[in-house]
Amino acid sequence: MNNSVINILIIEDEDYDVKRIQNTLQYFSNKIVVNAVVSNGNKAIEIISANASCCDVVIMDYQIAGSIKGEVLISKIKEIDKSIQIIVITKMTINISDYEFANRLINAGAFWFCTKYPGDVEDFIYQPTDFIISILNAYEKRKLERQSYKSNKKLSKNIEDLLATRQIIGESESVQALRKQIEKYAPSDANVLINGDTGTGKELVAYNIHYNSKRKFENFIGVNCGSLPQELIESELFGFEKGSFTGAGASKQGLFEIADNGTIFLDEVADLPINAQVKLLRVIQDGEIEKIGRVNSLKVKVRVIAATNKNLEDEVREKRFREDLFYRLNVIPIYVAPLKERKDDVSHLVKYFVDFFAKELEIRKPEITKEAIAALESYSWPGNVRELKNVVQRLLLEGLDSITGDDVRFALFNKPRRAYDNKDSLSFMNNGQMLPLKDMEKMFKERYVAFVRDNSRSDADASKKLGLAPPNYHRLCKELGLK
Ligand SMILES: Nc1ncnc2c1ncn2[C@@H]1O[C@H](COP(=O)(O)OP(=O)(O)OP(=O)(O)O)[C@@H](O)[C@H]1O
Ligand SMILES: [Mg+2]
Repeated sequence: MNNSVINILIIEDEDYDVKRIQNTLQYFSNKIVVNAVVSNGNKAIEIISANASCCDVVIMDYQIAGSIKGEVLISKIKEIDKSIQIIVITKMTINISDYEFANRLINAGAFWFCTKYPGDVEDFIYQPTDFIISILNAYEKRKLERQSYKSNKKLSKNIEDLLATRQIIGESESVQALRKQIEKYAPSDANVLINGDTGTGKELVAYNIHYNSKRKFENFIGVNCGSLPQELIESELFGFEKGSFTGAGASKQGLFEIADNGTIFLDEVADLPINAQVKLLRVIQDGEIEKIGRVNSLKVKVRVIAATNKNLEDEVREKRFREDLFYRLNVIPIYVAPLKERKDDVSHLVKYFVDFFAKELEIRKPEITKEAIAALESYSWPGNVRELKNVVQRLLLEGLDSITGDDVRFALFNKPRRAYDNKDSLSFMNNGQMLPLKDMEKMFKERYVAFVRDNSRSDADASKKLGLAPPNYHRLCKELGLK
């Protein structure tokens, strides 16, 4: 195999025609080199399988002996290496206007085909300049396809790396089903509506859908519909032309335009004002955006993934969300369950985030005790996975060697660390210490109230446990010097 020349494999079972092909190529022998000549399809497949770089262009006779020939042979070669280009030569017997035949060859993957000269033309198999030009063109195509294969491979590798940092962790039934749904629906172009409480991972799901779809090399544009000022939503989404209003000094691309051929992620879609909903419907229905100040509309092909923590059907009923838009978005509904309904995931997530933050903070991984996991599992997680992630980070920042149940409770209820010991909480009785009842009472109250506070989620919770009205609880804490 020589890199600077075009390597040819000839598949032809008649020596006379092999000679004619070689004759036709001879004037270009410094550029076009016949590397191998075989008389049947099996032999050709064998050679190419052993080394796909052995040839750039295959010249094959259509009518050869053996079981593998014609379209089957073309497809088999293409299966081994898509970038190998194939030129088919056929006997005169093929009707020159047999378009169906030509079509079959092209569909099987042939680059070009020609009809051999009559047998009495000894010097050439075909008009030599045309034949050579076709080989040169075939080689250019081979180079381009190899390049695009290489860069696609590189891009795919980047995407794999990216996805590795955005894994959806969890082994609960609902997370397993979620991963299956993503796998199933990502390749389609259908719109997706993701519903779930805050912090459950809706954006993560959207991201995984995009990067597992055929749009993965295109843009993924995220927009938070809730945080855009109302008056800017339309110009952000759809853009405007220069001079379309005072202050429009230059034209601006809208996010839909930037996301063309890719995916737009509309987070908190329920917060979209009605007039923007109308325009969004238009994009989804007709694939057209109405750019402010533009006479004719602009065509775009964007997949829409929307997310909300509200019940959109309720919003429709309350006339805050357009029903037609709801149906257009809700083609594939995906629900992400709250963490409290999938407690089995807690330990997996904790392990994942401990690894993550230990690496990020460059610290040694602490031991996570069983009690710590139990404490984390018994919490209700109103902020879902996001809250769990923050709690793990907070715990790791403490720099402990081992994380206990108490450490977790401190981190969860965000209380200052205070030394107390359950068993010894009444140990003053054993010290033989004798104090006036009033002082003893105060000491007891102080320790007991501190203990209850440290094991409560909030002041309201602590006052309830103590059977005190909140104002009385606060007064007591002050009195005892606990605030
Ligand atoms: N199953 C999971 N595995 C790993 N990380 C997760 C998982 N679910 C959520 N996360 C992480 O938790 C954080 C919050 O997730 P995300 O932003 O996707 O939630 P959300 O549902 O979009 O929240 P909001 O409704 O507040 O916008 C992110 O850092 C995300 O990577
Ligand atoms: Mg979000």
